[in-house]
Formats: sequence, structure tokens, C-alpha cells
Amino acid sequence: MSGTTAPSKRILILQYSFSAQTRNLVRSMVEGLEEYPVALFRERLTPVEEQHFPIGTVPKTLKKMIVTLFRQRVPIQPLSPQCFEEYDLIILAGPTWSYNPSGPVLSLLDRDGEQLFHNQVAIPVISCRGFWRMHWWGIRSLLKGLGATVPNGIIFSHPNKEPWCTIGVFLKLAGKVPEKMSWMRPHYKKYGHTTIQLAEARRFGEMIGRAITQGESFEALDFRTKLAIYEG
Ligand SMILES: Cc1cc2nc3c(=O)[nH]c(=O)nc-3n(C[C@H](O)[C@H](O)[C@H](O)COP(=O)(O)O)c2cc1C
Repeated sequence: MSGTTAPSKRILILQYSFSAQTRNLVRSMVEGLEEYPVALFRERLTPVEEQHFPIGTVPKTLKKMIVTLFRQRVPIQPLSPQCFEEYDLIILAGPTWSYNPSGPVLSLLDRDGEQLFHNQVAIPVISCRGFWRMHWWGIRSLLKGLGATVPNGIIFSHPNKEPWCTIGVFLKLAGKVPEKMSWMRPHYKKYGHTTIQLAEARRFGEMIGRAITQGESFEALDFRTKLAIYEG
């Protein structure tokens, strides 16, 4: 945090990450936010049953894809009491699972959604391989239904061309190393977000920090950049 001003604006960050991609994005956003005098409280959603990454086999990965399509909940541990305090902004970050928010985030919204989000301002952060629209519309409408204002949203997709992106994510989840497979290697350099995207996430954190400390609206912030959302 810079300067000597005591932070007056409070931000809660709720995050779930299965394969470290959301975690990396949020870490970078926090670096950017910390350039401003804001008080951050960060909470990781912890599933009651440990979720193993990679899933490990093709059949188990297919099964997970199917159950997540039907929005299977993944129960989570209780949140720390600090999450239920008053905040000026709540950032809710997590991956897309079969076009939907992830199971732990859905469990959070079912159990604590009303208490957390009623009359609050929320910005969702989505990490996905590329299909984010349904997740974005869904989470925005769920949050609004809980009484939150959703002035904006941040979406990051994996910067890999299709069909390699989808194949690469599937192989990675199934426990393979697509970056090293001879037929994949020419098309697929890396699973997940790049360091350039993490720098962009940091910049988005700065934008939020500046807006919240200067009392500017979040609606006007442009997060739909080419670096964040890859369009092949
Ligand atoms: C079960 C499952 C289903 C997924 N379904 C989608 C999907 O429908 N659309 C998409 O763009 N990405 C999908 N993904 C990919 C993740 O959203 C992506 O890899 C994300 O960056 C992971 O973030 P995390 O590491 O924070 O969990 C899926 C991943 C998993 C594990």
C-alpha cells in the first residue's frame, strides 16, 4: 500500500481456483489494488472434500464435465466471520465449469449468497479457456437476484487457438502434459493464462483501486481488452 493515508475503502475478495489460474489472476489484481490505500480481505473457498488437480483420467474428467454441466454443487467449509462485515466492493473470482460457475462458487451463493451480497456491489472475475458468456450472464443474474449491484465483470480466457485450447485443457485435466505431446506441441505452448495476461490483471486491479479511492464508477472501466479475452 502506498502513502500514509489510512485505508477507508474495504474490498472483500472471495476466490476459488482448481488449477491455479484464478489464483494467479487474483494475485496480480491484488498487486495492482495494493498501489492504492484500500483495505483488502481475501478468502479462499475451501471444498469440504479436497478437489484433486489434475482429475487424473479421461473417464473421470468426462464424468466431471457432465456433472458440472448440471451445476453440481461442491460443498465448502464455512467462511471466516470477516466475510460478513460491510464492504465497499466484493470481488467474486472463480473458473468456468461446463459453461457455469464452479461448484464451490455455486455452493457459496446457495448458502451465504443472501447474507454476503444483499445491497452490496460485486464484480465477478472469470477464468476460463474461452466460453465465458453463459457463465457471465448466469453469475450476473444470480448476484442481482441476491440483491447485489453488478457494475462490471472481468473475464480472462486462455490465449490458445481452438480446437487446441479445448483439447489441451481436457488433456491437462485428465493428467496428461499436452505441452510435451508431439502432435500438440506445435499448437499448444502453455496451459492457462500467460504472464502478459497477469500483467493485464494487475492493471485491472490498479483501475479498480483508482476508481474506488476516487469515488468513480466501476461501469466505466474497460476490462474487455484483447489481452484479457482472446479471440483467436
Ligand atoms: C470441470 C471443468 C469444466 C470446464 N468447463 C469449461 C467451459 O465450459 N468453458 C471454458 O471456457 N472453460 C472450461 N473449463 C476450463 C477452466 O475454466 C479453465 O481452465 C480455468 O482457467 C481454470 O481456472 P482455475 O485454475 O482457477 O480453476 C473447465 C474446467 C473444468 C475443471
